Amino acid sequence: MGGTHFAELKIDGKTFKFPIVVGTEGEKAIDISTLRKETGYVTLDPSFANTGACCSEITYVNGECGILRYRGIPIEDLAGKKLFIEVAYLLLHGNLPTEDQYKQFSILLNDHSLLHEDMRHFFDGFPRGSHPMHIMSTMINSMATFYPNVDTLSLSEDIDTTATRLISTFRTMAAFAYKKSIGEPPVYPRSDLSYCANFLNMMFDSPVKPYKIDPEIVDVMNLLLIIHADHEQNCSTTTVRTIGSAQVNLYATISAGVSALSGPLHGGANQAVIEMLKKIHSGGHSAAQFIEMAKNKNNPLKLMGFGHRVYKSYDPRAKIIKEATRRILKRLEVKDPLLDIAMELEAKALSDSYFIEKKLYPNVDFYSGILYRALGFPTNMFTVLFALGRLPGWIAHWKEMVSDDSSKIVRPRQIYTGRTLTHLE
Ligand code: ACO
Repeated sequence: MGGTHFAELKIDGKTFKFPIVVGTEGEKAIDISTLRKETGYVTLDPSFANTGACCSEITYVNGECGILRYRGIPIEDLAGKKLFIEVAYLLLHGNLPTEDQYKQFSILLNDHSLLHEDMRHFFDGFPRGSHPMHIMSTMINSMATFYPNVDTLSLSEDIDTTATRLISTFRTMAAFAYKKSIGEPPVYPRSDLSYCANFLNMMFDSPVKPYKIDPEIVDVMNLLLIIHADHEQNCSTTTVRTIGSAQVNLYATISAGVSALSGPLHGGANQAVIEMLKKIHSGGHSAAQFIEMAKNKNNPLKLMGFGHRVYKSYDPRAKIIKEATRRILKRLEVKDPLLDIAMELEAKALSDSYFIEKKLYPNVDFYSGILYRALGFPTNMFTVLFALGRLPGWIAHWKEMVSDDSSKIVRPRQIYTGRTLTHLE
């Protein structure tokens, strides 16, 4: 970081110097924080494809080389090898937990796993068929009314308790929302089960059909949540940082992150992929026809689960999920025709000049839905699972932002292109 090097900008015959900032992995940026003050100009970068919004120590993504690391550790060393709550701890605190820290974190997660009993009745107020992502963002926002001390939360107060409560109850609420949607009674968390086993049990246990916990399914649940745990300044994390910069309470901030994630161009793509694959399967279009439609500029349709703002090579998360999907489907003896269609689409797209030239590869959402289906999750829960995984990442970014003394409220500029002064007659 920091600068003995400068970039020069020439405007109207005058030269201005701006420091060059270099990250620990060699990423370079021009620090233009004094640009407007010095030159009167602002930059114009709609959708921020060329803008570094902050410096961050949490996650490193290299889209050209397909690299993803949490706190310096490659995703390949974490997914399938660590527990989700260990990775959550890593993101929140900077290091994997020691044995004692792990124990302490597990106790806290257990202590905060119950949803406030009064909140349980909220589920009755949503119309049948409500999307669980809408329910989740509403429920999380309402937590500030049950735990109002969060309004005055500062780093010296108990952020860890709030973060733990969120990570633990999000899981409980997600399972309750699902149970409500199918008209079954909620299943409460159990102190003898691990984080993921507890979640699976709350989702699938029923008074008439006890859920049998399968350690291999618990492992894959851990893997899936780890894969989604953080991805630096994506749309929902940027939302969290933006809203959080106004010093909004953490619940409202995370609720906004959930809303951002629900969009089909972001986390909602995992649901959209399955809908696309089902359409192809039901005979609407062949894989080849679908690819042609996705390439057509006049057709708004896209190949869902393909392309990424940052990855211009194979998304490392998609690689891990594809392998896990094949393994689990085999293990569960599930023959899902959607997997064959997905693989056919992938093969066709990766040999098509349109996708090759634009560097469009499968992203994290391309295969995850097929795996969720095999585990028994309904399609409308897929994005909730993404959010459950992403929660520690959002909170880690929020924590990093509020602990940075130089953080200010996010407030971009614009270039006004409307009417000039127009008096009323
Ligand atoms: N199918 C067909 N064409 C595509 C696709 C796709 N999936 N993705 C990008 N393109 C095309 C664009 O139309 C554009 O073409 P052009 O240069 O002729 O205008 C070109 O590839 C570049 O794409 P951009 O739209 O500039 O890429 P951007 O970074 O803005 O968007 C995004 C990335 C939103 C992920 C996009 O690729 C997309 O919509 N993909 C499908 C939805 C999806 O899978 N989203 C999940 C992303 S991962 C996540 O958020 C968790």
